[in-house]
Amino acid sequence: MVILLKPLFLGLSAFRAVSAENPRYTELYRPQYHFTPPQNWMNDPNGLLYHKGIYHLYYQYNPGGTTWGAMSWGHATSRDLTHWEQQPIALLARGYPNNITEMFFSGSVVADVDNTSGFGHSGKTPLVAMYTSYYPYAQTLPSGKTVQANQQAQSIAYSLDDGMTWVTYDSANPVISDPPATYSDQFLNFRDPNIFWHNPTKKWIAVLSLAELHKLLIYTSKDLKSWTPASEFGPVNAVGGVWECPNIFPMSVDDDDNNVKWVAMIGLNPGGPPGTTGSGTQYIVGNFDGTTFTADTDSIFSGTTPPPRDSIIFADFEGTGTFADLGWTPSGDLIGQSPANGTLSGQNPVTGYLGKRLVNTFLNGDATTGTLTSKSFLISKRYINFLIGGGHDINNTAVHLKVDGQILRSATGTNSESLSWQSWDVGSLLNQSAVIQIVDTVTGGWGHINVDEISFSDSMARSQVANWVDWGPDFYAAQGYNGLSSDERIAIGWMNNWQYGGLIPTSPWRSAMSIPREFSLKTIDGKATLVQAPTEKWSSVVSHKGLDQSWSSVDQGTKSLGSVGKALQIELSFSDREPAIAEASQFGIIVRATADLKQQTRVGYDFATKEIFVDRSQSGNVSFDRTFPATYYAPLAANAKGQIDLRVYVDWSSVEVFGGQGESTITTQIFPSDSATYAQVFSTGGNTRNVRVEINQISSTWDD
Ligand code: FRU
Repeated sequence: MVILLKPLFLGLSAFRAVSAENPRYTELYRPQYHFTPPQNWMNDPNGLLYHKGIYHLYYQYNPGGTTWGAMSWGHATSRDLTHWEQQPIALLARGYPNNITEMFFSGSVVADVDNTSGFGHSGKTPLVAMYTSYYPYAQTLPSGKTVQANQQAQSIAYSLDDGMTWVTYDSANPVISDPPATYSDQFLNFRDPNIFWHNPTKKWIAVLSLAELHKLLIYTSKDLKSWTPASEFGPVNAVGGVWECPNIFPMSVDDDDNNVKWVAMIGLNPGGPPGTTGSGTQYIVGNFDGTTFTADTDSIFSGTTPPPRDSIIFADFEGTGTFADLGWTPSGDLIGQSPANGTLSGQNPVTGYLGKRLVNTFLNGDATTGTLTSKSFLISKRYINFLIGGGHDINNTAVHLKVDGQILRSATGTNSESLSWQSWDVGSLLNQSAVIQIVDTVTGGWGHINVDEISFSDSMARSQVANWVDWGPDFYAAQGYNGLSSDERIAIGWMNNWQYGGLIPTSPWRSAMSIPREFSLKTIDGKATLVQAPTEKWSSVVSHKGLDQSWSSVDQGTKSLGSVGKALQIELSFSDREPAIAEASQFGIIVRATADLKQQTRVGYDFATKEIFVDRSQSGNVSFDRTFPATYYAPLAANAKGQIDLRVYVDWSSVEVFGGQGESTITTQIFPSDSATYAQVFSTGGNTRNVRVEINQISSTWDD
């Protein structure tokens, strides 16, 4: 299915042209230059390896449907990280389809060039995969080892034909059956081995996640078969949901080979960046000595940020009274109850609230259910900010904003006892009368909600709890390539979110991968900061014949750029506004708009808050999940020349923004109609100076 007739690549022979087995990918939402499987469900990238001139991409794959299940490893290969050739399934769920006894969860692949494993013979280099075996049933395995129902354990497989076919190491799998004794009760949540060669200690390293405990476990091995626990790391920083898909890798800071730092990259689900719901990816900068990962102190965050200074506090739940005394109407088990503190019996300590009391519905444990409804109030400021924690269920452990009895905004926790800020942008509801309702209608695990400090402000409240790899909702389970030179670090993320991943309106496939991104570390604001750029290899499909316009000043209002297309690379730069004029002070570009602008995705910069943003609230089909229509923000300061630079990659169902040098990225899916090909620049709250916009077409990587 891969194709390529660009003169530049005619010399590469491995690419095939479109044919009956290699369909043109032209369905409504089919990404044109992001990897997708032809059909069926995909999640995490797995086993990213560059080997003998080929980039391998294995991935979590359901061979039998468009939602998660029957997890197997799909496989695709590429010579340029741009044009992908689909390969046969690498590891098919054992017993598929009728009696699955083992699924192949996420993991990684190395080339064992010194044949430390002994799997190689006849001069063939073995590729070795380590993955999480998930066993739906208790069973005794061919190795004689027994596993329990739903156990997750780590197994290996090898390939002697450069990654095309794989043999599972059945005589000894799983090679890590259980977590170390201290954590033996965590065998249901022990997963996602990331393996690599550590040259200074001449050992293989495996980094694994104890998902529920927000801990990484580091193991070492001489032969990829026998593994010794070496150290643990965490919990630190963002600890919502579960920790999954950890990676650790070295990078030089500012290209200085004498200053090498290690980065731990960790997925959390839920508990992603502020303003998102569902999964996200954080990173921590530190050091690794072959045994232990140690975080730099300036990469660790603690404490709760106070609300913005102009805040009008609507409810802080302090004092001594009951909910009713404080003006809230309780129902169910909350009748007669009061705000509590964060140390209730049977509950892990609640952190991140302000003052002495908060709404904590763990009163009689998770069994407590009920609602709390506020007095009605007039919406007077653009943001409603509040601290929220507890269960992750947008309907049943939630906070709702109701106007005329209708729920217009909702928020939920992240399955974490640590509260963090969430905000609703209610700028479009100013002067309307509203109530806030706090809801807990579940009694099971995480059947409680924690809320504090509901306040009104002109700006969004923020908790700095983590470094975010990406500030958008659709970048998860990211993994770096093994097998690259030491100064090259390329990673791919799953461009979807567990919050709504199974509901996105694509067919006959679900989920795409992000653009492969080159990672580096640069000192920004005195701190080693992760910087990302789409790999240079992308330039092969970008045609530079597009629009290129400059204006010394763009007046307040919009400027149409006409119908520019659906797969685009956009470069946008403009001067910062100093001092910024209050709220509605933004500049940016509207993409994937219909002619009547009813559908549009806004990508821009807010001069007042110094943030880039992507607003997908009107981006087309947004109705399949209540949290989907939203705006996402990422901090970005102007460069030394006072300019803001944005690189925006638009595809048939996504927008990826790289801000500044790439220190701020926002990745979002969008589902606009086919006719949404228009673009405009917009300037609000005044004019914007020194504007340059360049729009280039990206041709289909599936097309000839
Ligand atoms: C992350 C994840 C992994 C697991 C895989 C299963 O998205 O939950 O932790 O290995 O997906 O498909």
